[in-house]
Amino acid sequence: MQINRLSLENFRNYAAAAAEFSPEVNLISGENAQGKTNLLEAVYYLSCARSFRARADRELIRFGETGAVLRADFFSGGREQTAEIILHGGRKKIMVNSVRQKTASALSGRFCCVLFSPDDLELVRGGAALRRRFMDLAICQLRPRYAVSLAKFNKYCEHKLRILRDWRDKPTLLDVLDDFNHNLAHVGAELIYYRAAWCRRLADEAETLHRDISGTGEALNIGYKTVKTVENPEKMRPEEIFEALMEHQGSHRQAELEAGALLSGAMKDDIEININSAPARGFASQGQARTAALSLKLAEREIIRSVIDEYPVLLLDDVLSELDERRQDFVLNRISGGQVMISCCDARQAAAKTGGAVFKIEHGTIKKEK
Ligand SMILES: Nc1ncnc2c1ncn2[C@@H]1O[C@H](COP(=O)(O)OP(=O)(O)O)[C@@H](O)[C@H]1O
Ligand SMILES: [Mg+2]
Repeated sequence: MQINRLSLENFRNYAAAAAEFSPEVNLISGENAQGKTNLLEAVYYLSCARSFRARADRELIRFGETGAVLRADFFSGGREQTAEIILHGGRKKIMVNSVRQKTASALSGRFCCVLFSPDDLELVRGGAALRRRFMDLAICQLRPRYAVSLAKFNKYCEHKLRILRDWRDKPTLLDVLDDFNHNLAHVGAELIYYRAAWCRRLADEAETLHRDISGTGEALNIGYKTVKTVENPEKMRPEEIFEALMEHQGSHRQAELEAGALLSGAMKDDIEININSAPARGFASQGQARTAALSLKLAEREIIRSVIDEYPVLLLDDVLSELDERRQDFVLNRISGGQVMISCCDARQAAAKTGGAVFKIEHGTIKKEK
């Protein structure tokens, strides 16, 4: 799939701008604070109606304006399509092929993006929450049902946490604790079922990519880590996972009440990453951690391709300068197939290597240079 044309009205620092992109490599260049990341954010936003950096949609609207319009002409599923998102008065209107959509799920599978940003360089050495978020966002893009389950799960977690914190003052809260545990185990089992399958594919793809990128025969190993009693999630049906979760919750019930905290469930899941058999979180060098992070992101792209039979648009925001020459070359020359948008300060070197289209961003304007 590819985005052929993007147009923006009052989005971030773009008053009115449009651009036509190459189906291959696009270099988005410009000085700092000119709108490079904003441009990638717009493309990403059109794929899921969610920003990767704004907490509220209103941040996306140009200062002093009341609404914003984003529009993409893209090619996917063998045909030209359009996506349009209008932000106005705290509301969001999503149109796909000129038809109004109730939710953003109409976009998933139709227009997909994989983003690699400087924050992702922390994916390997940072906390588990980062890896969970990576996994959740990736699965949400592919499975709208997962997004629904995840939202329910988070809501139940919040309620349960309130019970665990307040039961001493309000003992009647305990009457509903078992219901919450039951609900949590029920949706938790769905999450674990999907996460296990996705991690299996992630491992297959990322391990190969990592070997290629590092070029040193360095071995990356990836595994899914979840609740202890769920011993082999890849091979279990959701009903079996549910039983295992109930058992774990039961044995932690007292401890949770005493701690006033959630100690059992899929909210603590992680992706375990080893490089040459050592836990990457504690032992990877910066270079190794970056290679592994890049491998994970490129693996996400391969998984999307295997599910929907098309490469998603790859967005690389300002990461080129963070990678050494060998990894830059991999990114610029070995990512074959699919459209790529790369933002960087100086596009000359990258342009010479890829022959890609070059855009210059200046104060919220987009100028095609080549
Ligand atoms: N809602 C907004 N309205 C107007 N300008 C904005 C808005 N949000 C961010 N900006 C401006 O966009 C610029 C940053 O753009 P960004 O794309 O992050 O830069 P870079 O080119 O360095 O990636 C800043 O100057 C910021 O003030
Ligand atoms: Mg930027």
